[in-house]
Amino acid sequence: MHANVENGIDGLVEKQVPGYSLDREFYTETSIFERDRERVFRKHWVLAAHVWQLASSGDYRLFDIAGENIILVRDGKGEIRAHYNVCRHRGSRVLLEPCGNVSALTCRYHGWTYAHDGLLRAAMHMPEDFDPTGFGLKSCHVRILEGLIFVCLADEQAPDFDRISDSLRPFLSLHGTATARIAEQRTFPVHANWKLVVENYLECYHCKPAHREYCAVEIKADKIGDRSPAALMRYEAREREWRAQAERSGTLLAEVGTVLPLDERLSRTPVVAAYRAPLRASHVSATEDGQPAAPLMGQFPGYDGGETALAADAFTYMLAYNDHAVFFAFIPRDAGHTDMICTWLVRGDAQEGRDFDLARLTWLWTRTTDQDKAIIEANAAGISSPSYQPGPASVLEADVAAFREWYLSSIGPASRRSRLPEVRGGRYFTA
Ligand code: FES
Ligand SMILES: [Fe+2]
Repeated sequence: MHANVENGIDGLVEKQVPGYSLDREFYTETSIFERDRERVFRKHWVLAAHVWQLASSGDYRLFDIAGENIILVRDGKGEIRAHYNVCRHRGSRVLLEPCGNVSALTCRYHGWTYAHDGLLRAAMHMPEDFDPTGFGLKSCHVRILEGLIFVCLADEQAPDFDRISDSLRPFLSLHGTATARIAEQRTFPVHANWKLVVENYLECYHCKPAHREYCAVEIKADKIGDRSPAALMRYEAREREWRAQAERSGTLLAEVGTVLPLDERLSRTPVVAAYRAPLRASHVSATEDGQPAAPLMGQFPGYDGGETALAADAFTYMLAYNDHAVFFAFIPRDAGHTDMICTWLVRGDAQEGRDFDLARLTWLWTRTTDQDKAIIEANAAGISSPSYQPGPASVLEADVAAFREWYLSSIGPASRRSRLPEVRGGRYFTA
């Protein structure tokens, strides 16, 4: 273990400089990852699946997060349950296949059999005084929001979910996520600590150098790439025109989460934010030619040429267009590995080949996520060098700076909060 970490994680947290990237240990050390697991991952909601993946009674999926394996299963009453995949006999994984349909959850080792609700139903050759009611599968917290299945590994009380659901429901409902289907789901394994993945998502400073396709779709990229008054005026004119039109069609929606001061934001976890903004005038969807990729979703009366961005706690983000939505779940594996799980949703009745072409639909976020994977891994490789030294954030990295403060105040001593910097200008973590 690095000497810095031996001197205490709290001490290391205290010495981080606001507005600068973190010391190497935060991105590499297993002991800090263990603390992240206890004080961050276990205390927040993570997108684990979509109800379309568990359509019928008995459908199940396994979901891995930070060393835990969770069984998501739809029971006979139609409810979605979440259990730790750990047998109460001698601790074996109960289910081994990643997904399927089962009438009961049967452990292959000695045959203990649990109902969908986790209660132990059968255990052969146990002593006469054995009481099966005390040996059900341990459950974890689960909530459904407009078709999205979130889980939380908190030991006792789950963190607030109402703020996530109240704030985000209008946006998700506009996009019809409750009745959508998954067109595609891809996992991008990233050789980097989870914080580098989140930091990368939270800034578009890298968009111009790294994302040619994204910049061709997003007018926001002009404002970022060229901070001249003329570029800003062009951007603002497009935004004004789009806002007026979206307001007329009822698709504007009030922004969520950009008005709280940072110290209040940090104390009011989970982090929740959402907003709508225009694409380039040439694009009604995030496709290569700007034309639709799939049938209109949700409540859109027609194409409004906008996108919706949202953050549902620190690990789940969405970018949605009028005809498809893309969810990003950042799932920590260990100190040096994170999965980026991308899920593309389309209207529930849309069929591949007839209503959408998968390559067209996934064009932008396959390429962009591949590019992100490459730059994040290069970032992690550089940080592993002893010559790495934390560097200052640009004005386009306000959310990254705020995320680091949110993170440090989550894992470190409360005194960290008294040193909160003034951070403005972002969308997610920033006032
Ligand atoms: S460990 Fe599951 S039945 Fe023995
Ligand atoms: Fe990116």
